[in-house]
Amino acid sequence: MYILKKKMTKLAYIQTFGCQMNVHDSEKIVTKLLDQGYDITSDINATDLVLFNTCSIRQKAEQKFYSELGKVKLIKRKKPQLKIAVAGCIAQQEGRAFKKKRPFVDIILGTQNIDQLSGLLEKNGIAIDQKDDISALELTAERQDKVKAFVNIMFGCNNYCSYCVVPYTRGRERSRSCHSILSEIQKLGESGYKEITLLGQNVNSYKSDCSFSELLRLIHQVSGIERIRFVTSHPKDLNTELIDTMAQLHKVCNHIHLPLQSGSNRVINAMNRSYTYEQFKDKTIKLRETIPGIAITSDIIAGFPGETDFDHSQTITALKELQFDGIYAFKYSIRPQTKASTMQGHIDEDIKVQRLKEILEVQELTTGKINKRLEGIIVKVMVEGKSETNIDRWAGRTTSNKIVNFDQASMFKLTAGMFVDIKIIQGFRHSLDGEIVSP
Ligand code: 5AD
Ligand code: SF4
Repeated sequence: MYILKKKMTKLAYIQTFGCQMNVHDSEKIVTKLLDQGYDITSDINATDLVLFNTCSIRQKAEQKFYSELGKVKLIKRKKPQLKIAVAGCIAQQEGRAFKKKRPFVDIILGTQNIDQLSGLLEKNGIAIDQKDDISALELTAERQDKVKAFVNIMFGCNNYCSYCVVPYTRGRERSRSCHSILSEIQKLGESGYKEITLLGQNVNSYKSDCSFSELLRLIHQVSGIERIRFVTSHPKDLNTELIDTMAQLHKVCNHIHLPLQSGSNRVINAMNRSYTYEQFKDKTIKLRETIPGIAITSDIIAGFPGETDFDHSQTITALKELQFDGIYAFKYSIRPQTKASTMQGHIDEDIKVQRLKEILEVQELTTGKINKRLEGIIVKVMVEGKSETNIDRWAGRTTSNKIVNFDQASMFKLTAGMFVDIKIIQGFRHSLDGEIVSP
C-alpha cells in the first residue's frame, strides 16, 4: 500500500496483486502517476483514480481482483468522475474484450505499456501491444522501501510450461543489457540501498552482453550493495558455473528458489519442464555440497491434469527426500491458452484440496525441523523494520531469507538496512525468534 507523499490535487489509489514483478511494475506506475501530477492515497473513497495491477497466474488471484473491481464499480455509480484503470496480466490477456464487457473501466494497460500511461490518463483507452524494444520497459521506479530494491534483469518467458499463462501475458524472453542493469544498481548503491533482488521469470536464462554469472560478478563489485538475491531460477538452467559463482561471491545470498512442481517424472514431462526428478535432485545435492547452509525453497502444483495417486505419492516422497526450507504449493488451476487446459484427466477439486493439504503438512514438518535446528546459532540479519506481527519488536532476514523477529537492543538504535548478529532462541514454522548479540 502506498502512502500519501505531497499535497496535490489529483489522487490515485493503487492495488497490486501477484508476484514481485507486479510489485515492481507498480513502482514504475507510481513514477508515471507522480509525473502526471497525481499523489498516492490509501483511501479508496477519497481517490480520483483507482488502478489495479492484476495477476492471472491462478484463478484465485483473478477472483480476488474481480471482487475488488465489483466494489469499485459501486463507488463509481455514486461518483461517475472516478477513473478506473486495469493494468498487468489480466489487462494484457483480456484486452479489448475486457473493456467491452466492462465499459465502466476507463483505462486498460498491458504489461509492456506502462510508458503509455501518461497519454491514457488524458484520453482513456487501451494500450496492450507487445514491445520488441526493451527500452520501453526500462522505466524509473518510485521505490517504497529505502534499503531493499527490485531490479528487472529480463522480461518474459520462452519456456511454455504447459500449465503457465506467463508466456502469453509477459511475452517473449528479452534481457536488459549488462550496462543498463549495472548503472541502475550503482545508483541504488549510492542512494543507500543495501539489498537488491534481480527479477525475471527465468533469471538464470539471462542472455545479453554478459552471462548471468558474469552479471553477478559485476554487481558484486558495486559499493554499498551488501546482498544480492534473484528470482526465479529454472532448474534446467542452473549450471555448475552459476553454483560455483554463488559460492564464490559472499554478497550473493545463501538461498535459491528452485521450483520442482512435481516429484513424478511423468507429470514433470507433461508440464514441459525439461528435467527429471533425478536431475533436479542432483542439482540440490551439488548446491548443498558447494554452498554449505544454502536454503532451497520451491513451488509445487497439486493435481495437475492426469496426476494419479502414485504421481502424488512421488511428490510426497520428493518433499521428504529433498528437505526444502520452504515451499509455495498451489492447486492446479486451468489457465486460458495453455496446453494443460486442453489435456485429458482434469482432477476433481476435492482431490486437489486433499493433495495440497498433504503436501503442506509434510513440508510444515520439514520447515519446522530445519528452523528448530537453528536454535542457539548466531546469524547475521539485515534489519528491515518493525515486525509485522508485533510493532514493539523488529524484524529482518538472514542471508538464507528466513524472517527473524527480535527486540530492540538498549545499547544502540536500530534502523532499516543495519546488519546485526542475532542468536536464534526459537525456530518456528514460518519465522525465527532471536536476540541481538552484537551490532
Ligand atoms: N496452476 C497452479 N499453479 C500454477 N503456477 C503457475 N501456473 C499455475 C497454474 N496454472 C505456480 C507454479 C509457479 C508459480 C509461480 O505458480 O508453481 O512456479
Ligand atoms: Fe511460467 Fe514456466 Fe515461464 Fe515460470 S518458466 S514463467 S512456470 S512458463
